[in-house]
Amino acid sequence: MAPYSRLKFYSDQFTSLPSVDEFKKDLTGKTVVVVGANVGLGLEAARHFATMNPGRLILACRTKSTAEAAVEDIQRTTGCKTVEYWHIDLQSFASVSAFATRFEKEGGGKLDILVENAAIATRKYQKTPDGYESSIQTNHLSTALLALLLFPILSKTPDSRLTFVGSGAHFVVQRLEEADSPKILEKLNDEEYCTEEVMKGRYPISKLLNLFFTRALAERLPLGTSVTVDVANPGLCHSQLTRNVKGFIVIFYTILKAILARSTEVGSRTIVHAALAGDQQTMQGKYLNMCQVEEESDYVYSEEGKEVQERLWGETIEILKGKDERVEGVVRELLRTG
Ligand SMILES: NC(=O)c1ccc[n+]([C@@H]2O[C@H](COP(=O)([O-])OP(=O)(O)OC[C@H]3O[C@@H](n4cnc5c(N)ncnc54)[C@H](OP(=O)(O)O)[C@@H]3O)[C@@H](O)[C@H]2O)c1
Repeated sequence: MAPYSRLKFYSDQFTSLPSVDEFKKDLTGKTVVVVGANVGLGLEAARHFATMNPGRLILACRTKSTAEAAVEDIQRTTGCKTVEYWHIDLQSFASVSAFATRFEKEGGGKLDILVENAAIATRKYQKTPDGYESSIQTNHLSTALLALLLFPILSKTPDSRLTFVGSGAHFVVQRLEEADSPKILEKLNDEEYCTEEVMKGRYPISKLLNLFFTRALAERLPLGTSVTVDVANPGLCHSQLTRNVKGFIVIFYTILKAILARSTEVGSRTIVHAALAGDQQTMQGKYLNMCQVEEESDYVYSEEGKEVQERLWGETIEILKGKDERVEGVVRELLRTG
């Protein structure tokens, strides 16, 4: 178990990370999808993959202009000609479903690496057109939906990898108060409940949900699965993540980042590492920090944490079954019962 330690956070931020050369692989013939690769850590992770001669490198993004600019930028800086942009908007379940359908048709029947990187950080309650709080849908529900819809293809591909981008911010959630409600996700989406005060803690909670989902999925993988699933913490990095944060807290983040933040290139190494390095035995279901397996927060390991993980899995699958009928088949046919 790992208690939250400010000292460890500071010391991690000042410690160098290994160069990608230490774990890079030849990706000839491999298909890589990076979600949220138009800017920030996703762009830099995609750029690293582009240097490894990927068969196909798909930038799954919602903003056409910056996604096309990212394709050109990656082509220009790496010479990679196999990079392309596909549209996906995680604030729409229909868009996630459409992406998966397109991948089934045009993806070439294999998916070697799926990096689920896209996320938002906001303290403002906003409902998506689907009716969910925006960070819960973007960071957790749609991210989970994409993983499940692409799971049949991942599980047909030898030695495939599914990497979620989590965060050390999950340590901040010492207890998920919403677990006192009969339905955790319903409570987290409830507009009346989500006051300004509650929303202050929303981003760390969404990252805790990534962790619980990774662990729950890993526990359900059948014996002999080809898929390795893990979750990477890039640490505090310069990026556009705090673009939606307003008010006094902006000054706090600006100062904190000026002193401590890694560049997006350095932070992206943790993502590339999680998607390429190690093997199933060492990485399955693991949380990676500083390019190595580390323990999650005490809460994740607590009896309550384990119970909450199972409840969240059940609630997530129940919601997603209603959004895309393929989910039920994936859970029934390709996963074990927890
Ligand atoms: N930066 C840090 O200090 C830090 C620390 C720990 C973990 N992380 C994690 O690292 C990951 C990348 O974040 P970042 O720091 O690189 O932030 P960023 O620069 O804001 O990038 C976020 C990415 O997610 C995409 N995205 C957001 N909403 C989306 C949606 N509805 N549909 C599709 N894509 C969407 C963004 O696309 P648009 O540009 O089109 O909005 C962008 O590509 C996140 O999972 C974050 O939680 C970051």
